[in-house]
Amino acid sequence: MSVSLSDFDLTSHEHIPTTLFETAEQGSLYVANAIAELIESRNKESKTTVLGLATGSTPTQVYDELVRKHKEEGLSFKNVITFNLDEYYPMAPEAHQSYVHFMHEYLFNHIDIDPKNIHIPDGTLKKDMISDFCANYEAKIDAAGGLDIQILGIGRTGHIGFNEPGSTVDSITRLITLDRVTMLDAASGFFGIENVPRRAITMGVGTILKAKKIYMMAWGEGKAKIIKETVEGSINTSIPATFLQHHKNTEVILDDAASAELTRIKTPWLAGPIKWNNFLIKKAVIWLSLKLEKPILKLTEEDYREYGMNDILVEIGTAYNVNIRVFNQIQHTITGWPGGKPNADDTYRPERKTPFPKKALIFSPHPDDDVISMGGTFIRLVDQGHKVHVAYQTSGNIAVFDDDAVRFADFVSDYNDVFQLDDTQADNMFREIRKFLENKKQGEPDSEEIKIIKGLIRRGEAKAACRYVGIPDENIHFLDLPFYETGKIRKKPIGPEDVAIVKKLITEIKPHQIYAAGDLSDPHGTHRVCLEAIFAALRELRDEPWMKDCYVWLYRGAWQEWDIEDIEMAVPLSPAETDKKRRAIFKHQSQKDRPLFPGSDKREFWQRADDRTRGTAEIYDELGLAEYEAMEAFVRWKELDD
Ligand code: F6R
Repeated sequence: MSVSLSDFDLTSHEHIPTTLFETAEQGSLYVANAIAELIESRNKESKTTVLGLATGSTPTQVYDELVRKHKEEGLSFKNVITFNLDEYYPMAPEAHQSYVHFMHEYLFNHIDIDPKNIHIPDGTLKKDMISDFCANYEAKIDAAGGLDIQILGIGRTGHIGFNEPGSTVDSITRLITLDRVTMLDAASGFFGIENVPRRAITMGVGTILKAKKIYMMAWGEGKAKIIKETVEGSINTSIPATFLQHHKNTEVILDDAASAELTRIKTPWLAGPIKWNNFLIKKAVIWLSLKLEKPILKLTEEDYREYGMNDILVEIGTAYNVNIRVFNQIQHTITGWPGGKPNADDTYRPERKTPFPKKALIFSPHPDDDVISMGGTFIRLVDQGHKVHVAYQTSGNIAVFDDDAVRFADFVSDYNDVFQLDDTQADNMFREIRKFLENKKQGEPDSEEIKIIKGLIRRGEAKAACRYVGIPDENIHFLDLPFYETGKIRKKPIGPEDVAIVKKLITEIKPHQIYAAGDLSDPHGTHRVCLEAIFAALRELRDEPWMKDCYVWLYRGAWQEWDIEDIEMAVPLSPAETDKKRRAIFKHQSQKDRPLFPGSDKREFWQRADDRTRGTAEIYDELGLAEYEAMEAFVRWKELDD
């Protein structure tokens, strides 16, 4: 047990040098600094720097930092030549979804690069001109002296650039067909998969591998699986990113969430002896139990020895002792009393028994995350007599279909007619709205009126769900945080005005419990920014005396559930509660059947919620704990505890 992590090479399974950062922001700064250093040293010698650039959600913070360095530190891009990896085909450069538009919005419009030095594959070419264009693109890269630094993201298919599975190691710039998974991932930007182009022009794997230095970045849990295969798997054409293993100067840059499946993080005991601690023991025992499909209390000394966990036995004694200790820890996470059980011994309960009732404040990034992610706990808190407030952080207006806006505007205009309210304004407005929507181009932001109508539709749904669960109207708060209100998928960064709004509400309520969506690494922004706003407000409020009594519980947002070893409170739901939760989710009609932003998951939101909570209950059952219908899981945020 005296062995320390650093005595062993935990990266021995990895075939590409991989550097881990806690957050995407830190990883992005690292890459931006490397790029800026190269540009600066080349500038001093009056030489050019040739950059290979990527689009998508991954590199945006690198671009933000390069823009900042240009504006605040005078970093000049006059001698920089850029080549972008890819562009959809066909694609007009002025379209909102074009990579030309993306690159100008994030980078080129804000720096002093010479437009002649910008190269992006041309999505407007006639088919018979593409192959000449591609040969020329390769020649231009060579003529510029080759790519000094290439930055990459990775697709869920394992593509780099748009080199989908099947691409060969020596492929060059060419027209390709996109994988369906890639089209699904792009669907929200195009307002539906049917609008996503089927093809793209992309640099080849061979083109990329000629770069002198490559940084491949990945953020968020969605990338964890493909990153493991890329970094630890064997080289094969079905995951083109594995070809990076051939390159001598590639570095993979990950945040915590994207590194979660690497052996050194997920099962470090398989990579060599490690320094065990309480958490690692719990994680290892859960892993062993699930791997062997044996309840924890049935694990034997041989099982521990066979999987490199002998040291745990040396530390704790017998398998029986280890088993019972971990079993109890997990057992103590289960509570049917998320607000604390009055008059009970709360030594081992996740929540305190007093005060009772508590004031609970649920933050919901979009108007339906509360019921989707923690609807059962919400229902229990209300039924057990707590004073529950819900704060909807954003209006959620961009996720409403145009025809729903028309339907509601129509209702107002008909309502005025029927009740003879003598209001021609409503009719005029309705006509304006129809005209605007008829001429609206794909991806064009809505007019102010339409944004308001769409926001009101979601408000009405959220109120209906809250009333159904049983909280009074005055406990429903709509914050409409300003960062969200761009009318576009790209949002503004969090600002002091967002934090001030959140802080004001927390101060008014002085809650004993706060629930927040803990998607620490959601790369697409809204949930992460909403959480940042709450954390920033709480940090500012840390010295308030009532804050000492406030527990902050994080539920996982729409995408995934917490790992079992992380869960600190698991709230079981009965079949009847599961049913009631489902009905509360159904109140969000604009998001039902077919939401505007379904993501890559085909299931409706209520199905995702059902599957996820059932899944957690099944794992508890497999570990040998009680068998429940479903469970919602929470982790406590403890930054302000000390
Ligand atoms: C973008 C590109 C793609 C993306 C990849 C990841 O120019 O070539 O390979 O890097 O699809 O996309 P995001 O970053 O949006 O997850």
